Amino acid sequence: MGSRLKILGTTVSTQEEAKALAEEGAPEGTLVIAEEQTGGKGRMGRKWFSPYGKGIWMSLVLRPEQPLHYTPQLTLLTGVAVCRAVRKVTGVMAGLKWPNDLLVDGRKICGILLESAAEDEHVRYCIAGIGISANLDRDDYPEELTGIGTSLKIEAGEPIDRMALIATVMEEFEMLYELYRKDGFQPVASLWEALSVTLGKRVSIQTARGPIEGMADGLDASGALRVRTDAGEQIPVFSGDVELRR
Ligand code: BTN
Repeated sequence: MGSRLKILGTTVSTQEEAKALAEEGAPEGTLVIAEEQTGGKGRMGRKWFSPYGKGIWMSLVLRPEQPLHYTPQLTLLTGVAVCRAVRKVTGVMAGLKWPNDLLVDGRKICGILLESAAEDEHVRYCIAGIGISANLDRDDYPEELTGIGTSLKIEAGEPIDRMALIATVMEEFEMLYELYRKDGFQPVASLWEALSVTLGKRVSIQTARGPIEGMADGLDASGALRVRTDAGEQIPVFSGDVELRR
């Protein structure tokens, strides 16, 4: 992982760069890193704030040999890799919010965007986009992100060695990806659950089929979040925006 590396100054989005490389046949593990993104993308068409030199903005090319409907598991796997690396390198005790955020005391420090190119159920490639707010200072944040986002530098009280963190994210990813290919999703799901700040909490989720409220109980075999409603019904939620209640 990361053995083929493209390092950019300013780019629109590392996702688009990585997709172009994947279309040209770049092997699994190709990594694109940028100092700045002018069109950084988040989930659900949102923008991702990516100022110059302040964060880790990177995208990894994957070529998983599995049907398309398993790919959400890779979002969770990526989250585990980043969370373990952040804890190891910075000592900041980040936790995972389903499906794709890393939080510190309820504030976001990292988002993950997994995009797949597929024909029917056959995956041609996936791009795992990772945005880590590493060295942002409080006054770097635009007004709309104040109170929602934080950075590792703010939380650790000192600047973060971005190269050390990138290297450790890649090491953790490689270890987990091997485990996943050998033993399937279950061991990764257990690691995710242990690092989760979502489980055991009351959640409210906006899904395409309307809002769902209940207790977040765990992950199912596909990586969906199991939510137990007040009526005692167990609902698997495959995608949506989670709000943690208490
Ligand atoms: C989210 O939380 O909505 C996901 C954010 C993903 C941001 C990363 S930064 C690197 C890569 N390039 C992008 O344009 N987006 C992802």
